Amino acid sequence: MHVSSKTMKFVLTAVVLAAIVCTVAGKAAKTSRLAKYTTLCKLSDPKLSQCLTSLMKDILKHSKTGIPELNIPALEPFLIPEIDLKIFQGLGASIFGNTIQRSNKTKAFARNLVIHHSSEFEIYDLKVDIKKNEFFVDLSFPKLQIEGEYDVNLIMFNMPIKSTGPVYINATDITVKATLNGKTIKRKNESLLLFDTIDIKVNFKDYSIMIENLFKKDQNLNRALNDTLRSQKAELRKLTTPMIEELAGKMVLSMINQILTGLPLEEIFITE
Ligand SMILES: *[C@@H]1O[C@H](CO)[C@@H](O)[C@H](O)[C@H]1NC(C)=O
Ligand SMILES: *[C@@H]1O[C@H](CO)[C@@H](O)[C@H](O)[C@H]1NC(C)=O
Ligand SMILES: *[C@@H]1O[C@H](CO)[C@@H](O)[C@H](O)[C@H]1NC(C)=O
Ligand SMILES: *[C@@H]1O[C@H](CO)[C@@H](O)[C@H](O)[C@H]1NC(C)=O
Repeated sequence: MHVSSKTMKFVLTAVVLAAIVCTVAGKAAKTSRLAKYTTLCKLSDPKLSQCLTSLMKDILKHSKTGIPELNIPALEPFLIPEIDLKIFQGLGASIFGNTIQRSNKTKAFARNLVIHHSSEFEIYDLKVDIKKNEFFVDLSFPKLQIEGEYDVNLIMFNMPIKSTGPVYINATDITVKATLNGKTIKRKNESLLLFDTIDIKVNFKDYSIMIENLFKKDQNLNRALNDTLRSQKAELRKLTTPMIEELAGKMVLSMINQILTGLPLEEIFITE
């Protein structure tokens, strides 16, 4: 969203700002540890939004290594402890016939997901709106390589399946458009902007998935699952998109917050 300088003046009366002005004006200008990585922003800058955008871009350049000095961790590999695979409960007859039945014991989780190449993204667009505590980002990952464990308990091919094992997922040309909303919080003597909600749209060119040993001993069923995953790719893609967006949403939300936790607002802005 484009914010005019007139709106920005109004914005500058916001609580956040008051807090910053008080803090910063109250003492001699503190040396910002951020200054060596980017150009700091002036609150009076009519193009404040642009300044914050380029500041964020500069910081994101360090996503591979993190910035230890600011306690910003490396974003790779990226870890997600757990995701609920509602996909298995919602999978339609279109994929597995009527082979998946609902029962009150049905559950499916993926755990300990390790996401590789998560720091290799390209940013197309990024906007920061301090007034609304809103952040918009449009970026793409050339590829993501994910490994983790599944833990399922369901009825499939008319058999109760209780199984755990490794799962591998690859995806290419993943584009992400996300709007994050948050609030500023006080942490000791500092203010942080942190996000708690994300609205995300994800698209990708291709993917492959490998689920090992779902039907422990029965290699015929393992093969049948393999074939299904391969032959029903388009249908699976449609059904799994909400799950993929949830996963990507958690990832992007957590990545941005990990960065912002190291960037107190007092160190982003300079007084003139
Ligand atoms: C779960 O299913 C079993 C058997 O089908 C039934 O006895 C039990 O009451 C159900 N539990 C719940 C919470 O629905
Ligand atoms: C907050 O306090 C810590 C020490 O307690 C200090 O290192 C830090 O620079 C302070 N931050 C601000 C913005 O004054
Ligand atoms: C993902 O890509 C890697 C590297 O190209 C490859 O070794 C692996 O087998 C692929 N995994 C899947 C599930 O396609
Ligand atoms: C399933 O496919 C993978 C490769 O995608 C292969 O390594 C595995 O052996 C296959 N399993 C069976 C039972 O065919």
